[in-house]
Amino acid sequence: NNRTYTMVKPHAVADNQVGGIVKMIEEGGFRIVAMKKTQLTAAQAGKFYEVHAGRPFYGELCEMMSAGPIVAMILEKDNAVADFRTLIGSTDPAEAADGTIRKAFAKSKGENAVHGSDSDENAEIESSFFFSGLERY
Ligand code: GTP
Ligand code: MG
Repeated sequence: NNRTYTMVKPHAVADNQVGGIVKMIEEGGFRIVAMKKTQLTAAQAGKFYEVHAGRPFYGELCEMMSAGPIVAMILEKDNAVADFRTLIGSTDPAEAADGTIRKAFAKSKGENAVHGSDSDENAEIESSFFFSGLERY
């Protein structure tokens, strides 16, 4: 597969970092297939991150992800999922490599600027959670 799903998290949208993040995405060789600004309810954030239900940070995660608008995108590139995970860097910005989006924009392990799908299967599930078939044609 050559597509992945990403979203700019609420703290980064609130801090006017969408442009800087999109610039790094495009300079990283990704084409934006679809893009929208929207806001999740806490219940929708809970559904999106349901794989983490039961983890100690789950409540905080759902609250953070529904605290304001997000910018959702479907991205296209050869080897999109793995290459995008490389571009965003480690979950914890203290461990993120220089040149990564999280190194540049993350504030903490929770407020880490962007989400990136972790498998082709999840990229498809997450893309269809946010975008209709027409929007991601
Ligand atoms: P995503 O691309 O957002 O899925 O991040 P990830 O794949 O690098 O990390 P993971 O899927 O393990 O965790 C999902 C999200 O939960 C992270 O991006 C963080 O926002 C949040 N998170 C993970 N671990 C912690 C933690 O220890 N503390 C807090 N506060 N948040 C965490
Ligand atoms: Mg993840």
